[in-house]
Amino acid sequence: MRDGCFTESLPDEKFLDALGDEVFFLFSNLIYRISGIRLGIQKKGLLISRLTRRLKALGIGGFYDYYQTVRDDAVEQTEMINCISTNTTKFFRENHHFVYLGDVIIPELLRMKSADKVIRIWSAGCSTGEEPYSIAMTLQAAFAKTGIKPEGWDIKILATDISTRVLGTAQSGVYECGQLPDSVQAEDIRKYFLKGDKWNEGKVKVKDAVKGMIRFSRFNLKSRIYPFKKKFDVIFCRNVMIYFDEDMKRHVLSGFHYHLSDNGYVFLGHSETMFKMDQFIPVHITVYKKRAEGHW
Ligand SMILES: C[S@@+](CC[C@H](N)C(=O)[O-])C[C@H]1O[C@@H](n2cnc3c(N)ncnc32)[C@H](O)[C@@H]1O
Repeated sequence: MRDGCFTESLPDEKFLDALGDEVFFLFSNLIYRISGIRLGIQKKGLLISRLTRRLKALGIGGFYDYYQTVRDDAVEQTEMINCISTNTTKFFRENHHFVYLGDVIIPELLRMKSADKVIRIWSAGCSTGEEPYSIAMTLQAAFAKTGIKPEGWDIKILATDISTRVLGTAQSGVYECGQLPDSVQAEDIRKYFLKGDKWNEGKVKVKDAVKGMIRFSRFNLKSRIYPFKKKFDVIFCRNVMIYFDEDMKRHVLSGFHYHLSDNGYVFLGHSETMFKMDQFIPVHITVYKKRAEGHW
């Protein structure tokens, strides 16, 4: 499990002194404008610790100087978001979601989509990839269980995140063995992962058959337009909206509603709630189904 790009050790005193509340709010507003991530004043220590190393790497001595650099520089804004985003995740996190996906939703989709054989799933805020890989493994297991051959089916998982840094890890599909939860059986590890040896000792790599189901791409949920042509049958957006305010949540959920197929599903994180309940019906713990009728 990883959290942010840098350790949360206490920053140098001079950096602490250098971030007054006024400058903190300049950053917090800029970060909100870029990403929809809302940092309250209680997150000042966190912001300092996550930005300090970036300032050091750039040889910038103070936060206000860094603010002036990042304010109008789109490339540096991406670096800043890489630093400040919280990327905690793990394989089969909230395992009951994957049980529900495999036992209920996928069999339903296999029945309902038997004519066009197209399934689209979106992992929005996929972090380092454990979530979309868990979805892909669940899909493969569900096909095997029903005895339906995946050949002839067009199944794609889109996995997106605002952070280019986590997408790099996701794309590589390489993880420490210790990152696999105990719930993943040895048999499944053999089925879905290659084991590293020599300099890759202690690591596993997701097999190409699993990786090939996923397309990783940078996408900012704050974007005004969600540019997807095909509707999604399932959207996972777990532990992402906790960092957003009400306006941003409304924006994201309205985007999901529009881009979900009729009766499509949305998965949220354990501490997240769905408002606009008239548009979605709760069907499981933090799993919601779009009402077929009605408009946002
Ligand atoms: C805590 S992780 C959750 C990962 C995974 N969904 C899970 O539940 O294990 C939150 C992720 O949301 C991403 N994120 C935050 N704001 C975002 C935005 N505006 N657009 C896209 N992704 C965003 C972060 O970069 C981070 O990787």
